Amino acid sequence: MMQNEKQLKDMVAIITGGGKGIGRSIAMAYAEQGANLVICGRNKSLLDEVSREAGALGVSVLPVRADVSVEADVENMVERALREFGQIDILVNNAGIPGPTVLITEIKKTDWDAVMGTNVTGVFLCSRAVLRHMIGRGKGNILNVSSGAGKTVKVVRSLSYNVSKFAVEGLTAATAVQMKPYGICVNALRPGMIDTDFHRDTPEEWKAKMLPMRHPDVVKELAVFLVLQTVDTMTGESVDLAEWERSRQA
Ligand SMILES: NC(=O)c1ccc[n+]([C@@H]2O[C@H](COP(=O)([O-])OP(=O)(O)OC[C@H]3O[C@@H](n4cnc5c(N)ncnc54)[C@H](OP(=O)(O)O)[C@@H]3O)[C@@H](O)[C@H]2O)c1
Repeated sequence: MMQNEKQLKDMVAIITGGGKGIGRSIAMAYAEQGANLVICGRNKSLLDEVSREAGALGVSVLPVRADVSVEADVENMVERALREFGQIDILVNNAGIPGPTVLITEIKKTDWDAVMGTNVTGVFLCSRAVLRHMIGRGKGNILNVSSGAGKTVKVVRSLSYNVSKFAVEGLTAATAVQMKPYGICVNALRPGMIDTDFHRDTPEEWKAKMLPMRHPDVVKELAVFLVLQTVDTMTGESVDLAEWERSRQA
C-alpha cells in the first residue's frame, strides 16, 4: 500500500453511538481513513455536529436517529444505510450505558432492562441486521466496544453493566465462530478508562480510583487496526487497548 493511501477508502461503516465520546472518535478515525459513515444515536443534534465535522474531510455521512434497543429503529437504520450507500463493510457496536451503581438487591427491573436493552440486545439487533447483508457479500467486519468489566470482576461499580459486557464478550466469540465460514470478522475492543459523559454520574470516590482517565481519541488507531483484520488474521478476539499499546512498544 502507498504510504499516504487511506486505509478505509470507499468503505461504509456504521458506528452506533457515533455522536459523542468513544463513538465519535471512532467515526472521525474512519472518516480520516476515507470511510463513508452511518452514525446513530438518540440525540440527533449531536449526530449532525459529527456529520458536519466528518463531512468536511470529504466523506459522506448519514446521521440516523435510532435507539439500538428498538428492533424497528435498527432495521430502519440498516435499510437507510443500504439505500444510501449500497453496501456496509463495517459495523461498530459502540452504543452503551453504565447502569445503576447499587447493590444487586436495589436494582430496579426497568434499569436492568435498559442496560441489557442497549448493551446486549442492541449489539445483537445491529449485528443481525448487518450480517444478513454481509453474508451475501462474503465479507465484512464487526467491532464490539466491550470493557474490562466484562472480562474479570475485581470490584463492582455497576453489576448490570458487568453482566452486560460479559455478554458482549460472549457475543463477540460466538458470532465470530458462526461467521468465520462467511469471511466475516468479529472482534472486541476494551478501551480502559476514558473521559466521556459515560462517567457523568460516577461517584467522585470511584473516579479517584480510575485516574488517570484518557481522551477518547486514544482508541482511534486500534479501532482502525481491528476493522482491517480478516478471518485469516484475527477474529473472535477481545483486545485491551493498553495491552495492545504495550505489545507494540516491546
Ligand atoms: N468511557 C469509558 O471509560 C469506557 C470504558 C470501557 C468501555 N466503554 C464503552 O464504550 C462505549 C461508548 O461509551 P462512551 O464512554 O463513549 O460513553 P458516552 O460518551 O456516554 O457515549 C455513549 C454513546 O452511546 C449512545 N447511546 C446510548 N444508548 C443508546 C441507545 N439505546 N441507542 C443508540 N445510541 C445510544 C449515546 O448517544 P445518545 O445518548 O444520543 O443515544 C452516545 O453516543 C460504551 O459501550 C461503553 O460501555 C467506555
